[in-house]
Amino acid sequence: MKILLLGSGGREHALAWKMAGSPFCSALYIAPGNPGAAREGTCVSLAPDDFSGVAEFVRREGIEMVVVGPEAPLVAGLADYFAEQPDLSEVCFIGPGAEGAQLEGSKDFAKRFMQRHGIPTAAYRTFSAAELESGLQHLAKANLPIVLKADGLAAGKGVLICEEREEAFSAFRQMLEGQFGEASRKVVVEEFLAGREFSVFVLTNGSHYCLLPTAKDHKRIGEGDTGLNTGGMGAISPPPFVDEELMAKVEKRIIQPTIRGLQAEGIPYLGFIFFGLIEVDGEPYVIEYNCRLGDPETQAILPRLDEDLVALMREAAAGSGRFAADAPEKCVAEISPQAAATIVLASGGYPEHYEKGFPISGLEKVQDALVFQAGTSLKDGQLLTAGGRVLAVTGLGKDMAEALQKARAGAEAIEFEGRYFRRDIGLGV
Ligand code: AMP
Ligand code: GLY
Repeated sequence: MKILLLGSGGREHALAWKMAGSPFCSALYIAPGNPGAAREGTCVSLAPDDFSGVAEFVRREGIEMVVVGPEAPLVAGLADYFAEQPDLSEVCFIGPGAEGAQLEGSKDFAKRFMQRHGIPTAAYRTFSAAELESGLQHLAKANLPIVLKADGLAAGKGVLICEEREEAFSAFRQMLEGQFGEASRKVVVEEFLAGREFSVFVLTNGSHYCLLPTAKDHKRIGEGDTGLNTGGMGAISPPPFVDEELMAKVEKRIIQPTIRGLQAEGIPYLGFIFFGLIEVDGEPYVIEYNCRLGDPETQAILPRLDEDLVALMREAAAGSGRFAADAPEKCVAEISPQAAATIVLASGGYPEHYEKGFPISGLEKVQDALVFQAGTSLKDGQLLTAGGRVLAVTGLGKDMAEALQKARAGAEAIEFEGRYFRRDIGLGV
C-alpha cells in the first residue's frame, strides 16, 4: 500500500522508520519530511496545511493511506476535507476530524468533555475576554500555584504555572488581550496538581482501542527539571512507576470513558489519542489530551512496538481483527520487554533564540542506538542543524540503565556547535 505521512519532526522520522519496515508498505512519501525521514521514503515538498495540495498528491500518486503526525492539520479539519472528496473515500486516513481533534485544539472543549463523562482532571473554570473581571475575582481567591491555559493551540507555549498572585493577574490579562491571538481569547484557569507525569497512547477507531507502550517525557530544558518548558528533551518507555494497578485505573477511569464518550456524542475518531496524565497519590488525572502521538515519546515507544504499525492501522481503519465489532473493546499491542530511552540533542539557546546551519558530525560513530532526525537540513551532502530540537537518540536495553547508557553514548558521539542535551533523562524517575 502506498502511504503518505505528514510532518517534519523527529516523531515523523520515527514513524517513517517504523512504517517503511512493514511488508504492507509498497511506497512511503513524507511531506515535507526531513533528511532523516528521506532515508526511509521519498520526501515531497508539500505543506500539511495545504489541503488541496495534499489531496492532489494523493490522487496523483494513488496513495492508499494518509498518516498525520502533527495536530495542526487535524484541528484545521484535514480529515473532514478528505471525507468530503467522493473520489478519496477509499483512502485510509489516520487522524481524527476537527471535532475529535478539539480534544487537543480546545482546552475548554476537553475540560467540558471530561466533566460530562466523569473523567478525573484538575478543577477549572473558563473565562472569555468579556469575563475578565469575574476571572480576576476568581484568581484573587484561588489557591497558589494556579495554572493558566490558553484555550487553543499555542505551539506548546500556552500554559503558565503562576506561583504569585500578581503574576497570575497580569498573565491572565495578557492572555485575554490576545497574547496568543485567537488561541487565548478564552483562558482555562485550573487547579495545580502535584504528582508524577506520564503519557499513555492508544490507537482507536472510535469504538475499540489498542494500548501502545507508555512513556514519560522530560519537558523542561534544564537538568533536574528546571528552566523553560520545551517540546520535550527526552523520553523513557516504560516509566518504572506506572504499574499494573495504576494502568488499570487509567483504563477504567480515563481511556474507556473517553472512547465511550466520543462514541456517545457521535464524534467519529480514527487515530491516536495521547493521554497526558499525572499520578497524584496513586490516582491518575488527565492534564491534557493530544490527538496525535508525542514528540519525542514516539521515538521511544515505536522501537518497543513489536508489531507492524501499518497492519495495526489498517485493521483499525477496516474495523477488522482486533477492531472488529465483536472483538473486545480493548487490546494491547505486542510490546517488547526491552526498555527504551530517548535523548534529544538541541541547539544551544533553545527553546529561546538559537542559531542554525552548523555542520553535524559523528553520526557514523553511533554504534548501538537509533538516531532520529528532527531539525536538520542537507546542503551539498553535509548535514546541518536547522531547528531547536535537532536529533533524538534512542537506546534500547534489557533494562532502563542499559537503554540510558546506549542513548547517552550515542548522544556523546554526535557533535555540532552549541549541541546541548540533558544528562539526567530517565534518572530519579
Ligand atoms: P499542557 O500543555 O496542558 O500539557 O501543559 C503543559 C505542562 O504544564 C504539563 O505537561 C504539566 O507539566 C504542566 N501542567 C499543566 N496543567 C497542570 C496542572 N493542572 N497541574 C500541574 N501541572 C500542570
Ligand atoms: N512531548 C510532548 C508532546 O508531544 O506534546
